Amino acid sequence: MAVRKITEYPEEVLGKVGQPVTEFGEGLRALCADMFETMYDAEGVGLAAPQIGLNLRLFVMDCEGIKLTAANPEIVSTEGEQSGQEGCLSVGKVPAVLVRPQKARLRAQDENGTWFELDAEGYAARAFLHETDHCDGKLFIDHLPKLRRDMVIKRFKKEKRWD
Ligand code: NI
Repeated sequence: MAVRKITEYPEEVLGKVGQPVTEFGEGLRALCADMFETMYDAEGVGLAAPQIGLNLRLFVMDCEGIKLTAANPEIVSTEGEQSGQEGCLSVGKVPAVLVRPQKARLRAQDENGTWFELDAEGYAARAFLHETDHCDGKLFIDHLPKLRRDMVIKRFKKEKRWD
């Protein structure tokens, strides 16, 4: 296992629609092990393949008791509304308030290629939505009004320079 380098805004791969995962088994398990290690190392609750530079529809998460690997994820349904802070390892965890559905149902394949569906609410539902967005080349800041989006990016760039 190894901690991979996290790609950051505005790297191109973060804006690309991911390619479907077609190979399951040993190679994918090894990749996901690296993704979990990278996510824990960065103290995140979710990490998608584009965030380690891979143009793939794949994410891992460990959030509020839901630990899973999701290949070829899609959001089947959503319900309600929640307003809360969200951040992203690829944008330096700079937080912004974002309204999301309160509940979400995820459909995806596990590391062996078996399809599953899972419901989550609150913060875990937010993670489903955020990570599935990554697989579609979308960042959470893309949901923000332009002014607030620019503010997050500005703060991220400023903090980066101080590293
Ligand atoms: Ni993210």
